[in-house]
Amino acid sequence: MSRKKLIAANWKMYKTPAEAKAFVDAFLPLVASHTRDEIALFPSPVLLPTVVAACKGSNVAVGCQNIHFAEEGAYTGETSIGQLKAIGGTHTLIGHSERRQYFAETDEIVNKKLHTALKHGIVPVVCIGEVLAEREAGKTAEVLKTQVTEAFAGITAEMAAPIVIAYEPVWAIGTGKTATPEMAVDAHKIIRAEVARLLGSDVAAKMRILYGGSVKPDNATALLGQEDIDGALVGGASLKPDSFTSIVKY
Ligand code: PGA
Repeated sequence: MSRKKLIAANWKMYKTPAEAKAFVDAFLPLVASHTRDEIALFPSPVLLPTVVAACKGSNVAVGCQNIHFAEEGAYTGETSIGQLKAIGGTHTLIGHSERRQYFAETDEIVNKKLHTALKHGIVPVVCIGEVLAEREAGKTAEVLKTQVTEAFAGITAEMAAPIVIAYEPVWAIGTGKTATPEMAVDAHKIIRAEVARLLGSDVAAKMRILYGGSVKPDNATALLGQEDIDGALVGGASLKPDSFTSIVKY
């Protein structure tokens, strides 16, 4: 079973258009011949037109950090899937822990957004992960299974091929504390087993499960070298072309 890894940059609320353009101009030549893995950038919505234009014709895909589940409507401050598609974005993050924590995103909302993304042919990267208290209480498996089950409500095996999952233990995001490769692999096995229970073992065997949470150039090889880890979602270490390139080329 070979799953092409996806190495993705989550820029969060960083960079101006000029800074984003400078990143892409420096980054593309560094990864131009890299075919082993897929690469994607997830900038803020206001940067998307600049980044999409700068990445046009390259091996780097561009997506949104969040979309609304509604196709359009009176949702001040939100971005629609049609808007993302119209400017040439191809991917979206869904349910990042910062969205769950600060913007009250629930598994139910994640599920609605997943349906919207799939309906419109946008590659969804569904983020899940336990908080520290859940890990310490021995509830990691239970939390991950619930998040997967609720995110996937109404999703059939036929619909599931584009879906990517990002396992991001919340206690590892932006903290410099990384899950060990063993912890990440254990979590990925739990997630893949849950996908198999819901959608069958074929779908589960093909689904990419990324790891995210303080991935850096110096731990990328240990994490991405694991067969069960199908890529990375990188925050802080994706903001500089050199550092993100080292992770892409782990
Ligand atoms: P981090 O962020 O790499 O800065 O921990 C990862 C993420 O939030 O996706």
